[in-house]
Amino acid sequence: MSESRTVRVGINGYGVIGKRVADAVAAQPDMSLAGVSDVVTDWRAHIVGQKGFRLFGATGEHVAAMRDAGLDVAGTLDDLLGQVDVVVDCTPKHVAARNVETYRRRGIKFILQGGEKHAATGHSFVAECNYATALGRDATRVVSCNTTSVVRTLTALKQAGLLRRARGTLLRRATDPWESHESGIMNTLVPEPEIPSHQGPDAQTVDPELDVVTMAVKVPETLAHLHYWSVQMPRQASKDEVLDAFRTSSRIALISIGEGLVALNSVKELMADRGRPHGNLYEVALWADMLRVQGDELFYAYMVDNQAIVIPETIDAIRALIGELREGAESIAMTNAALGVGGSLIGAGVGEPVRR
Ligand SMILES: NC(=O)c1ccc[n+]([C@@H]2O[C@H](COP(=O)([O-])OP(=O)(O)OC[C@H]3O[C@@H](n4cnc5c(N)ncnc54)[C@H](O)[C@@H]3O)[C@@H](O)[C@H]2O)c1
Repeated sequence: MSESRTVRVGINGYGVIGKRVADAVAAQPDMSLAGVSDVVTDWRAHIVGQKGFRLFGATGEHVAAMRDAGLDVAGTLDDLLGQVDVVVDCTPKHVAARNVETYRRRGIKFILQGGEKHAATGHSFVAECNYATALGRDATRVVSCNTTSVVRTLTALKQAGLLRRARGTLLRRATDPWESHESGIMNTLVPEPEIPSHQGPDAQTVDPELDVVTMAVKVPETLAHLHYWSVQMPRQASKDEVLDAFRTSSRIALISIGEGLVALNSVKELMADRGRPHGNLYEVALWADMLRVQGDELFYAYMVDNQAIVIPETIDAIRALIGELREGAESIAMTNAALGVGGSLIGAGVGEPVRR
């Protein structure tokens, strides 16, 4: 790729993650969106052209069905693959793994999402932790929403020398809002059948040194996930020292109950008021005033917008695979600038703990 050319990105699967990745790619100064591919013919496909993106069908049959539905279709996935440097596969869990052979045969760099296994790419990605090890690779997997939050927060503590081991309980949203009519639990809580839940081991695919155990329970809401963590530090530390460690990450936003951000819905409403597309919260939103240090033990809670947190990571993963921008920090800064990430969520001072 020459310096003057932008990275051409294709997206396979224009659902919850794919549509957000498409917007984010289109917002980057060094990337262009070649098109998106899908199988549907309803409103979800009609919106693609209205956004100015090119629509492709997964197969010739899908193209025909799309044209029958009055859609303007640029070709098949195969055609799209001929026009890209990187493809981001955002098809549902297990569908993406079946596309890997095609991408490899075509010699196209590819990114999978967290529904797929680590083995499908041999590399799992969180920008602040391991951008460097993805440089120039053929493929990587952006880990799931929960795992991304675990690696972001524990990396910040680890880099500050404040992490011995971490134990987390995850309250997981039941389903995504757009498909709430199809599934989702009501009036119950459903524990994951195994301890540890898969997110802890998944975090170790990014950083094998992490001593982390997770437990998870599905809860009857669709807004976001909520995590509670108990961390053993290697020594006693002050609350300010811990907050400073989290402040080293531009993708951890310290929030405060004292500022009215009392629940998941308040934070989502704030993101919508700020004009973020889909009300996206790209950051881990961590309650600074609730955080507590007791000797060498640390306790805190944070919110994860499952639909949004992996979007900046996916953008950085594209740059890492292309391999021209060698410093992760530079890619992170570029992505953050394009998406409006960084600083406090509501304005000066909000990240400060409220002292009562
Ligand atoms: N939804 C989340 O909160 C979330 C968070 C992080 C990671 N992920 C991961 O991201 C990936 C995508 O999940 P999602 O929630 O966006 O799924 P989704 O169901 O919302 O979107 C998938 C899209 O792919 C399309 N599709 C289905 N089969 C296809 C095919 N053969 N070819 C092309 N397109 C096809 C569907 O029509 C749909 O538009 C999964 O690996 C998932 O685990 C999801």
